[in-house]
Amino acid sequence: MRPIQTIACALSLFLCGCSAGSAFREVEIEEPYGRKVDSVLSLMTLEEKIGQLNQYTGNGQATGPVIDDTTKIAQIEKGLVGSMLNIRGAERTRRLQEHAMKSRLRIPLLFGLDVIHGMQTVFPVPLAEASSFDLDLMRRTAAGAAREAAAQGVHWTFAPMVDISRDARWGRVVEGAGEDPWYGSLVARARVEGFQGRSLADVTTVMACAKHFAAYGACIAGKDYNTTDLSLLTLHDTYLPPFRAAVESGVGSVMNGFNDLNGIPATGNAYLQRTLLKGEWGFDGLTVSDWGSIGEMVPHGYAADLRDAARAAITAGCDVDMESRAYVSRLRGLVADGEVAEACIDDAVRRILLKKFQLGLFDDPFRYCDPEREARTVLCDSLRSLAREAAVRSIVLLKNDGETLPLDRFTGTVALIGALADSRIDMRGIWASDGAVEEVVTVRKGLEARYGRAKVLYAEGYDLETNRLHLAPALAAARRADVVVVAVGERYFQSGEARSKADIAIPRQHEELVRALKGCGKRVITLLMGGRPMIFDEAAAHSDAVLLTWWLGTEAGNAIADVLSGEYNPSGKLPMTFPAHVGQIPIYYNYKSTGRPESKAGGYTCSYQDIDFEPAYPFGFGLSYTTFEIGTPTLEKRVWRLDEPVTVRVTVKNTGHRTGRETVQLYIRDHVGSVTRPVRELRGFRQVLLRPGEQTEVAFTLGAAELGFWNADLRYVVEPGVFSVMCGPDSKNVKTAEFELR
Ligand code: GLC
Repeated sequence: MRPIQTIACALSLFLCGCSAGSAFREVEIEEPYGRKVDSVLSLMTLEEKIGQLNQYTGNGQATGPVIDDTTKIAQIEKGLVGSMLNIRGAERTRRLQEHAMKSRLRIPLLFGLDVIHGMQTVFPVPLAEASSFDLDLMRRTAAGAAREAAAQGVHWTFAPMVDISRDARWGRVVEGAGEDPWYGSLVARARVEGFQGRSLADVTTVMACAKHFAAYGACIAGKDYNTTDLSLLTLHDTYLPPFRAAVESGVGSVMNGFNDLNGIPATGNAYLQRTLLKGEWGFDGLTVSDWGSIGEMVPHGYAADLRDAARAAITAGCDVDMESRAYVSRLRGLVADGEVAEACIDDAVRRILLKKFQLGLFDDPFRYCDPEREARTVLCDSLRSLAREAAVRSIVLLKNDGETLPLDRFTGTVALIGALADSRIDMRGIWASDGAVEEVVTVRKGLEARYGRAKVLYAEGYDLETNRLHLAPALAAARRADVVVVAVGERYFQSGEARSKADIAIPRQHEELVRALKGCGKRVITLLMGGRPMIFDEAAAHSDAVLLTWWLGTEAGNAIADVLSGEYNPSGKLPMTFPAHVGQIPIYYNYKSTGRPESKAGGYTCSYQDIDFEPAYPFGFGLSYTTFEIGTPTLEKRVWRLDEPVTVRVTVKNTGHRTGRETVQLYIRDHVGSVTRPVRELRGFRQVLLRPGEQTEVAFTLGAAELGFWNADLRYVVEPGVFSVMCGPDSKNVKTAEFELR
């Protein structure tokens, strides 16, 4: 890990003007690329420079208005397009690249795509994968997605989405790693390293893009695109850490966001892009707007017109214009009128040319366009088995009364109820742009493969589109079977972009179905599907077991069969709190104590008079088919020096009768700070695989990265004082020790 302050040593910085009154730091690029970039730049006309900042979409999967292809091709051949998105396929990208090679300077195009959780082989949605608490797994799935995407001509993925969010009403929680900044930073690092590998020159890797910079997940009321208004302290302590981690990992690009942050839209926010990202953090990559977000500064009321928006964006450090066509139409005039310095455009162009050199596109613009590599890579066995591994690791066991699960050595009949159990497209989840639907293994297919077609009695239970109940056939199947498995929850399109919900409960018809099925007197196992924390208390109450299966991708059905049968003992943990009531939102585990801490006694305390303040399931929660005993954390001494790494040890034992994987979590509490600190913060986790009766000890080292925080002066500090250290299987059931920093 390269701390931010050393990243600048790779770059020498000098000041120069960008526009009237705003200084910015232009980056000087390390050799061998510095000379190459500048030699190309020196040949470019202003129009060609502006062309490099212009990004158009191909057809399909547009999240905004688009222009016709003929115009685009003509502009590509004039060197007026620097990159395209939503183009895939070795042949299709080759054809477009051939048009670029007809331009005067033959600068190759960059092809970007939202490869969020896989390409043709679909992995679990990111929030599901974050439940694995396995960073190496997430690095491997990102690498697998990159391999498949690169084989299809893609150079650049608009991932990982690293937005922290504490609001399950916001549909885009599905794309991230949940509510915790420290864990979210580790996941951001793992995914960037996975996508980019050791070098962008490797034709099986793609350039990553940390998004959306910044604090997009703090949208008021969980409404997508809504205002975000928060203190700089909260910005630095909660929302920026994953972006810092991505930059420290060498992420090649950063996408800004649709949101207005403290009165200034992220796309036109110089504090974010110039002062922090390209200034203090020394970021040498490129920034890209979100779809049309430059032009959207007009409806934001921040820009008077598209020209004003173009000026605000380029001045603030937004290098590439995704589909608002502001740069290609307005920047020439702004330079001619002296409102934008050409040096500002040069800086953006340098960043883009650098990435094209690093990707090897100047050496060979067609190196990603290999139909043979595409044919042998797409949906290959190794990617499918990785998808299955990731899927089983993403499943969270929320309830298992009377050891209902696993159904091992099961020879009876299963009633499989619920249209979601037979839906391919829903298993892919959202942002699965290319995921081959016909390749998806449904729950029905997975169970039939596991137990035999004759042993699985399927009934849809409810209409997939309308949720209209079809109870009779479902109850008939349940009465004939030995056990009932029922799939409930969200449709794949109910989480993701522009998918905010005021009510996060599963459909009431699904609750009614589970209750009715339980009335048949059989064990009921509920599969909860979706891309966000959901409220399903009625269904839970009438279930003997509940598995949270999220959206698991291509291998969903096989993975669910692996877990139901006990072939894999579930080990997932919640990366986001599951509220008991939507009125509790925003609800998160790392909250502040307040002066009147929450209390079951109510009264004059930080509580509700009408509902409990406890969540339904806390951050970090997840059961196993076995049981574990996690001891009290121990330290060799109580007092430690401020600069001395603190070592904490804790034992963990498998006290059950099945081998299982436990994620031992470590939380700290800094009891007194120069600013108030949360009642607990995740600062370590270790996964251990233990056989029945086996015990081991895990150790954690707590240094500045774990014990520090951003203070009122926006400086990262470690302060003396008493700390609690808490260990356990989740953020609630912990055992505590204390130490002091002096
Ligand atoms: C969308 C999303 C962004 C995505 C981009 C390109 O609107 O906000 O995450 O990468 O457009 O599809």
